[in-house]
Amino acid sequence: MNPSVSFSFSPLLLILLLLFLSSFFPIRAVDDDQDNPFLDCEPIDCGKNKIISYPFRERNQPDYCGHPQGFVLDCKSNLDRLLWNIKSQSFLVLEIKQSARILKIVRMDIWDSICPETYSNTTLNSTPFNYTQKDINTTLLYNCPNSPESLADLVKTFHCPANNVSFNGFFVSGTDLGSYKLSSSICEVSVVVPVLEDALKGLTISESSIGKVLQHGFEVEWNTMDEEECGACIDSGGRCGHNSSTDQDKFMCLCPDYREAYGSGEP
Ligand SMILES: *[C@@H]1O[C@H](CO)[C@@H](O)[C@H](O)[C@H]1NC(C)=O
Ligand SMILES: *[C@@H]1O[C@H](CO)[C@@H](O)[C@H](O)[C@H]1NC(C)=O
Ligand SMILES: *[C@@H]1O[C@H](CO)[C@@H](O)[C@H](O)[C@H]1NC(C)=O
Ligand SMILES: *[C@@H]1O[C@H](CO)[C@@H](O)[C@H](O)[C@H]1NC(C)=O
Ligand SMILES: *[C@@H]1O[C@H](CO)[C@@H](O)[C@H](O)[C@H]1NC(C)=O
Repeated sequence: MNPSVSFSFSPLLLILLLLFLSSFFPIRAVDDDQDNPFLDCEPIDCGKNKIISYPFRERNQPDYCGHPQGFVLDCKSNLDRLLWNIKSQSFLVLEIKQSARILKIVRMDIWDSICPETYSNTTLNSTPFNYTQKDINTTLLYNCPNSPESLADLVKTFHCPANNVSFNGFFVSGTDLGSYKLSSSICEVSVVVPVLEDALKGLTISESSIGKVLQHGFEVEWNTMDEEECGACIDSGGRCGHNSSTDQDKFMCLCPDYREAYGSGEP
């Protein structure tokens, strides 16, 4: 490393740095004075088919950029991951179909391995989200006896290592274990996981294909959230937002030209 070489470059670097900074200066000055909700709520591109916009917001955006009921997403762009945490469950978002109001998601705990560290059912109860017609429930059974009784074809076996002992697991389509000659007590744990019915059709006998079916994820749709107002707002050049202050819990349209945010009824 020669110090004189790096020194001879530094004036040029300094000029470039100043040019770079000065190009941002006007924006910075305004930003520091006052928040600009329109700029703050710019849709965020978190990878292919994953644009975060109202009713969603990225966690680092101000609250008013999204609807308050469970529409916060975490964009981990360095990991190429978009996460959705709702009701203490964590999902990986594969796709956001904004106009159809559909999220395609996978449970984070079974994304890496079919054998999660803790067991929990998938639940969307009392959220604005629900399953779609494309989904079908499947059941993962863990810690099962080593020599199962005769099993129906649709039951697939997999293995989970636990404290040096490998436990059997069963994967069945549906939640009615009786129809597979499995009693609910045959295994220690059962977990209900929705999958895409289409992905299930391709399921062969191998263990890795169970993982692939699960990794295809499933779809949830969200209830209508100010679609009409939001569409009109975007058409008029604005961005959608939501004011959740106690005296005014409602949709608002954020306009580019004004610092103030307008409610839905105003121009
Ligand atoms: C999941 O739900 C089923 C019933 O649908 C229940 O038998 C099972 O114990 C639940 N599993 C967990 C881990 O809570
Ligand atoms: C959720 O979806 C299921 C199956 O598609 C349907 O039976 C149920 O009525 C839906 N619930 C709500 C609250 O929309
Ligand atoms: C899966 O089962 C749960 C109850 O355990 C139910 O609420 C949900 O609607 C079912 N999902 C589908 C896609 O049928
Ligand atoms: C697992 O097996 C290894 C080697 O067989 C042994 O050294 C270790 O103590 C075992 N661990 C447990 C938790 O039984
Ligand atoms: C939300 O509404 C309250 C009351 O009208 C107002 O004081 C506040 O500035 C609004 N918040 C935003 C982000 O516009």
